[in-house]
Amino acid sequence: MLSDATKAIIKSTAPVLQKHGKEITARMYQIAFAERPDFKRFFENTWVKYPLDGGPQPARLAEAVCAYAQNIDNLDALKGPLEHIAHKHTDMRVIAEQYPVIGASLLQAIKDVLGDAATSEVMTAWGEAYNFLADVLIKREKEIYRDEDAQMIAAARK
Ligand code: HEM
Repeated sequence: MLSDATKAIIKSTAPVLQKHGKEITARMYQIAFAERPDFKRFFENTWVKYPLDGGPQPARLAEAVCAYAQNIDNLDALKGPLEHIAHKHTDMRVIAEQYPVIGASLLQAIKDVLGDAATSEVMTAWGEAYNFLADVLIKREKEIYRDEDAQMIAAARK
């Protein structure tokens, strides 16, 4: 669980993330793909089709990150969007092991873009908040993969 203090810090970053969101996520993908060029292949509808800027993907992720910051104290409001993201991820065969690279890249991008505003408190809070969100998505995505496997096995037995 995130502490109230962490939630308050995250919420306080919502306006600045709103302002610089796309810049942060564009930088995040740059860092992530420099580290793991093979990750790009998963982004079939975005980075593969639009290798220069990922088409709509940085804006979509920025919107999700902002919505998360705004609703950090009311995550029920994000149930629908998170379910959508989890299904997108499983459609593209995203796996849990990919989350740490994306998380480290997001944190570095926040630091690069926010500069002095990225205090150690802000960075620690975002580290915790990313891990929390990643765990929610990973758990749901594992359930979806398990359901898909069960359906495939049932279909093969028919
Ligand atoms: C907490 C972490 C993450 C968040 C909040 C997030 C958020 C999103 C969002 C908002 C979308 C767009 C959904 C749409 O099309 O409407 C998306 C798509 C996608 N994400 Fe993530 N994501 C996260 C982690 C990851 C990780 C670790 C990977 C692994 C490389 C990944 C790979 C993808 C792919 C492949 C797509 C589909 C892009 C396409 O169709 O080309 N995401 N994600």
